Formats: sequence, C-alpha cells, structure tokens
Amino acid sequence: MRCKAMIAAGMAAVFAAAMYFSVEGAGAAELSLIPIPEKVVVKAGEFVLTADTVIVADRGAGAIGEYLAKLVGPATGFKLKVAGAGTKQRAKKTIKLRIDPEAKSLGPEGYKLKVGASGVEISSSATAGIFHGVQTLRQLLPARIESEARVEGVKWAAPCVEITDKPRFRWRGLMLDTGRHFFPKEFVLKYIDEMALYKLNNLHLHLTEDQGWRIEIKKHPELTKIGAWRGKSTSKDLFLSPSGPAHGGFYTQEDIREIVAYAASRYVTVMPEIEMPGHSQAALASVPGLACTNQKFKVLTHWGVNKEVYCAGNEKVFEFLQDVITEVAGLFPGEYIHIGGDEVPKDRWKECPKCQARIKAERLKDENELQSYFVSRMEKFINSKGKKLIGWDEILEGGLPPRATVMSWRGISGGIEAARQGHDVVMSPTTALYFDYKQAAEGEPNVGSPLPLCRVYAFEPVPAELTPQEAAHILGAQGNLWTEHVETPEHAEYMTYPRAAALAELTWSPASAKNFGDFLARLNPLLARMDIMGVNSRKPKADEQSQCN
Ligand code: ACM
Ligand code: ZN
Repeated sequence: MRCKAMIAAGMAAVFAAAMYFSVEGAGAAELSLIPIPEKVVVKAGEFVLTADTVIVADRGAGAIGEYLAKLVGPATGFKLKVAGAGTKQRAKKTIKLRIDPEAKSLGPEGYKLKVGASGVEISSSATAGIFHGVQTLRQLLPARIESEARVEGVKWAAPCVEITDKPRFRWRGLMLDTGRHFFPKEFVLKYIDEMALYKLNNLHLHLTEDQGWRIEIKKHPELTKIGAWRGKSTSKDLFLSPSGPAHGGFYTQEDIREIVAYAASRYVTVMPEIEMPGHSQAALASVPGLACTNQKFKVLTHWGVNKEVYCAGNEKVFEFLQDVITEVAGLFPGEYIHIGGDEVPKDRWKECPKCQARIKAERLKDENELQSYFVSRMEKFINSKGKKLIGWDEILEGGLPPRATVMSWRGISGGIEAARQGHDVVMSPTTALYFDYKQAAEGEPNVGSPLPLCRVYAFEPVPAELTPQEAAHILGAQGNLWTEHVETPEHAEYMTYPRAAALAELTWSPASAKNFGDFLARLNPLLARMDIMGVNSRKPKADEQSQCN
C-alpha cells in the first residue's frame, strides 16, 4: 500500500489535527479525535467495515469484541462475528483485539491502533487499553455509526492510521450529585457510556446529602424510606422553578450492582460518596439519635451550608456510619470511598456536651481537631475494609488522616498542601472544573461565576510550584456536576458537555498537545456525533475563545 506518512508526536502533536484535515481522501469530521492521542501517523487509504468483517479477540478481550459488534450493529445492520484468537479466519478483513505483553511501557490503559486497508489491530498489555483503542476506532468511523436506527448508503470507512497512545493521568473523573436531584439508573448508565467515548474513567456518585439519601442500606431501611424523599420546596434557591415539587428516589443495592458492573464493562470505576460529618440532614431525619440535639429533622428542601451535622461525641453515630460503610464497601469494588468532609459548621459541636467531652477525652485542641478525629476514625474503619479514604480539602483542617487522599475544590491550594505532605490529590477546583457553573456570562442557565469551555481547557492539574516528587501525588482531575439547579438528565448533559470533553483532553493527552483552537475544530464533529447518540450537549459559539480573553 502506498503510504504517505505524517507524524505528529509530543511537542508536534498540536499539528496533528491540522494534518488530519489535509489528508487526501479522508473526511475532516471523521478524523476528529478527543482526547488527542500521544502519537498519530496518518496514512493514505481507508479501512471499510463490511458485514463479513470478523472481530478476532484475544482471551480476555472477548467482551470488548462483543461491545464493538453491538456498537456498530444498529447503524450498519451488520451482525459482526466475534471469534477467539487462533481460530482460522477465512474472512478478508479482521479487527484484531490483541493482548501484547510487550506493550507494558504504555501502561494498562495505553494502546496501539493500526488501521490498514485490509484490517485493524488494537493491542495493549491489558484489556483497559484495548477498550480505549476501540473508542479511538469508534471516533475514526463516521458519526452516523452511533445511530440506533439502520443508516443506508454510508461507506463505513476509517482512515488508515497508526496511533500510539496512553493517558497522562490515571484519574479522569466526573462527579454526579444525585443528592440534590435524583437521576434514574438508566441515566447513570447513559452517563457512563458518554464517559467511555472520551476515555474518562472515574464516576464519583455523590449519594447522600441534606436533601436526599440515595442508596439502599439493608441494615437501616429508614434511610431510603424516609431520607430519599423531600417535601415540596418553597425556596426558589433549590430549584430553577420558584416553587419546586416534592422530590425523591434512590438506588437499590441491585441497581448499584448493575451500575457498577455496567461501568466496569466500560472501564469506568464508580466511587461512592457518603457525606460526613456534614451534609447529612437526610440521615438525621431518618435515624433518630445521630445529631447533637434531640430535635426532629426533615429532609432539607433548600440548599446551602447546613448547621445540622452528625454528633462527633456519640458512639451511636460511629456504629451507624460503620454499618453504612460496611455495606457500601461490599457494593463498590473500587479502591476509594469518598467521605465528603466539606462544609461542616462547628456550631452544634461547640454547644454539645458529648462533643465537648470527646474533645477533652481525646485531648483535642478544638472543633477542627474534632473533625480530624472523626475523619481519622472513619479512615481506620475504611482501611479495615480494604479501601482508601478520599475527602474534600476541608479534611486538611485539624490535620489530615494518615493515608487520606484529598480532592481539592476550594482552588488548588489544598491540593498543593496535601501533595507537599506526601498525600495523593485529585484536582477539582471551582475555578476550572465545577460543571454546575454557567458556561458563559450571558444567556446560559444556572448560577455561579461563568466557567467557559476555554477556562476548563486551560486548566493544568499539576501546579508549577510542586517538585517532581510532590507532583507525582497528583492523580489527575475531576469535573463536578452539583445539581441544586439541575433537575433533568437533559440539563445534566448540557452542563457536562462539552466541558467534560475538555477535561478528557487535559487529563489524557500530553500537555504539549493542548491547543484550544485545534480542540474546537475536533470538537464540533464530536458534538454532532453526540447529537446522534442522543446527548444534549451545549454547542460552542463562534467566538468561544473570547470568553477567556
Ligand atoms: C463542595 O463543593 N462543597 C465540595
Ligand atoms: Zn455532639
């Protein structure tokens, strides 16, 4: 085959898209990749998917082969055969999914993708890399491959390329707040599918809040019987509408198992967040005796920072939370359990005899150290279940628990401090990664300071002031979708995309490859693809960059 090779690597990757667009015979839209791969060699020619193409999968990659066959099935009408490696193929064309122990240097998520006129090969040292390679192949195929209905008259071609790719960071996350508004299981599964397209790999489910408890706990059924439901809101602050309706819902343990398994098949880890000691009024309303006072609580119907928190002096609270964590640890196979830890007013603790007795008995200096005691005690328990604790950056106050990972949200300074103390960090600052903030100064739904796409894209997760050793503690970055003002799946998608596409590029691609203009050119065809997928993304305006000037 005559090959007109063009190489884009490392520093030169910025030019990759420009080169894509100049390739003879290949449509620009079909060559738009996000996140941009580490190294791309575009060649002349194309691979055309046909009904007799066979997917040949190494042992362990069979499920990914089935996934790919299912992905391309509805639009093409092809029922692609998935065969094990080693079985003789008479078919002219194959898509090989190959486990290659030699590819270890790319890490478990890295992959090589070779698209030639007579076949495709995706290889990686692990199945995660093969899955990501499949996503790249998917983005090389015409956007209409995403159609749920049969599409006639399309040549299902991918341009010939050789791609070598691996992620810059291991943590490429999105958080969905299901506490303020409940999102049905079906939407969570769809959200996971959307993440997979962009190689995002951590879904943080915020499951408990003042305004709702969203996960079934068998030992405490009141949590969802009472805590998952709130009355009609009279506050215009929680809802977009001046007077929001009664609201509720929760995930059964069966739902959670289904979500976790579905996510695993898309190489996404689901991380649960069980908030403590604050943001816990739905639990206080459900289980008596967890607060500092005997007051009767209702699930909160407005948002804000709430003074009602778990009592830190009452053993019953720790027993309760250990019950919850025990069930949660059994449901989520991932490494981490998020315990929140943010926004904990100390008013009740200051007045509570039990909390003050705890401060005295444990020789603590003040209520900040009491919070540190609370979180450290839960860390020991979480570690005993084989999990690691992660919390919002307030867990630095009063002293970090010994092994805790910090999610830096009030800017990046908490992340810097934690990394300097030798703790792992995930960056998710309000200034760059709060996807509930509106997307432009004018004409966009939601509140908060404008957080335009260009600002998300410009975010650098590793602060310049860190030494290389400290910088190694930055696991990656995460976009957070708080839902005080987001009621529907359509609205959630609108707030998430395209900003999550920018997040994908800044967490996956080499920093040297970043170029906003180039990203926008690749983004538009991908958003058209998402339209076909039924995803309600915001479309960038012609002067999008001016939002950051
Ligand atoms: C937060 O936004 N309160 C973590
Ligand atoms: Zn108390």
